[in-house]
Amino acid sequence: MVGKIINGKELSADIRSRVAMAVQDLRHEHDIQPGLAVVLVGEHSASQVYVRNKVIQTEAVGMNSVKHAVDQSISETRLLTLIDELNNDPQIHGILVQLPLPAHIDANVLINAIDPTKDVDGFTVNNAGLLATGQNAMIPCTPLGCLFMLQSHHASLSGMNAVVVGRSNIVGKPMANLLLRENCTVTVVHSRTKRVASVCANADILVAAVGLPKFIQGGWIKEGATVIDVGINRIPAPEKGIGKSRLVGDVDFDAAIKQCGAITPVPGGVGPMTIACLLMNTLKACIQINDLEFPTDLIA
Ligand code: GUN
Repeated sequence: MVGKIINGKELSADIRSRVAMAVQDLRHEHDIQPGLAVVLVGEHSASQVYVRNKVIQTEAVGMNSVKHAVDQSISETRLLTLIDELNNDPQIHGILVQLPLPAHIDANVLINAIDPTKDVDGFTVNNAGLLATGQNAMIPCTPLGCLFMLQSHHASLSGMNAVVVGRSNIVGKPMANLLLRENCTVTVVHSRTKRVASVCANADILVAAVGLPKFIQGGWIKEGATVIDVGINRIPAPEKGIGKSRLVGDVDFDAAIKQCGAITPVPGGVGPMTIACLLMNTLKACIQINDLEFPTDLIA
């Protein structure tokens, strides 16, 4: 069996164009422009690239993008004041604090200072609790993107065995809760799990979010399973030349594609879906803050 490739570039472009249309309607019908504020602390190079892409794509769908790039040495108190200002700014509907933060800042304190209605990352305890209890929540962007990719391949996920590899607050835990919401039977695999290969081999749906290049081997994958690879790992690629590198996922793609029913590639899979879902969440926050109806084709 050769698995189908689930194309994140195409799916994310579709979401972004539907968000752009809804943004246009909001402006024409209600004179409202959704606004997203991104807070970047310090010079973390990967974060700078991510934030640049977020700003470009926010503007491309017609939203207002505000970037606050602050010095690495900023105090937690100053950052809390900034969050408070953004919470009270009527032009801002979404607030995102790019992670990781410098060690002297308590990320939990900062994130939970964000007004939950503007928490477009879905990282506050409030939104995590709403999702865990099956209520209307802001859903973290990467797991939401993974769900959309699964739904592009399956009309229903109900009753499927889902295995999530990784238990981070950003991906693994919210992913498990989302799959539960879809009536999957969910197992979360982590660093202390015994017999990982045999647990994975039982998965109809396998979500890999562990941050280890090619950790999931082809032989661990059930014939016909759907594989979602969240990993983005840079590894040396001497075949491309001295000092060159390339991106690989958490799954051994070449082996997995021979086993699975469908798989997301790296790059071009989950990555582009994350920003599309961030834009969708910003639209959702703006609509909810203004007591308007969410377009039915964009409900998460
Ligand atoms: N750093 C890596 N992924 C993310 C994300 O999804 N949101 C934020 N805020 N920071 C990140």
